[in-house]
Amino acid sequence: MYNKLLTCYNSIREKTDFVPEIGIILGSGLGGYADEIETVATIDYSEIEGFPQSTVEGHKGRFVFGYVCGTPVVIMQGRVHYYEGYAMTDVVLPTRIMGMLGIKKLILTNAAGGVNTSYSAGDLMMITDHIATFVPNPLLGKNISELGVRFPDMSEIYSKRLRACIRDAAEKCDITLREGVYLQLTGPSYESPAEIRMCRTLGADAVGMSTACEAIAARHMGVEVCGVSCITNMAAGVLDQKLNHAEVQETADRVAKQFKALVTEIVCQISKV
Ligand code: HPA
Repeated sequence: MYNKLLTCYNSIREKTDFVPEIGIILGSGLGGYADEIETVATIDYSEIEGFPQSTVEGHKGRFVFGYVCGTPVVIMQGRVHYYEGYAMTDVVLPTRIMGMLGIKKLILTNAAGGVNTSYSAGDLMMITDHIATFVPNPLLGKNISELGVRFPDMSEIYSKRLRACIRDAAEKCDITLREGVYLQLTGPSYESPAEIRMCRTLGADAVGMSTACEAIAARHMGVEVCGVSCITNMAAGVLDQKLNHAEVQETADRVAKQFKALVTEIVCQISKV
């Protein structure tokens, strides 16, 4: 696995020597953010030797290198999901590559279903912690000691000081920010109402099909992590209506402008600490 990472890393380094400080992973509906930043270089995933390719519609697969708020960033425009059939080590490969490229901090974003019944579609939720026990741990297998230790601590996955920055950023943007626990399931089917009741009993506020595994891989490497979920829909059984991807996309698009402003302000805030 480490050789595969090195192959990808070297393939990128042949194309750019840009060293990012902050990594950003864009979730559904946020993809357009990468087109709005001051760009220095872009590299399609297809140009990177050994890189897993995304198949979901609406997900562009590329790294965008550039500046936000004067800080060098790398953006993952399109992520790889476990439900697409990749091994979990491949799902977190792009995250690890960003770590190898030099990022010290990572901003995770996603679309999620609202499990907490006080939420509404369109809410933004800062991730305070996660439950990743329902998907394979991305660190399973021989430990890559070049990246981190065998048994990494996960007692503060979502950095306290970065969370404080996100609160400040939301206030600056005049956004009402929810805070809660994100639970990752494999998908691709949405959950049953009974599964959502289970998630709620377990302490989850939002449910989705990404992010937690990436947070684990980043923490393994010592990268500081924070995250925001766009609650695109209330999870199954909360409302008397069916779920569909179009609704998820619609809400994500509706909130995109606000979400983008928040991400920019988060970069401004966290680059100062
Ligand atoms: N469940 C799982 N993942 C999701 C959902 C959901 O309701 N909405 C957006 N991503």
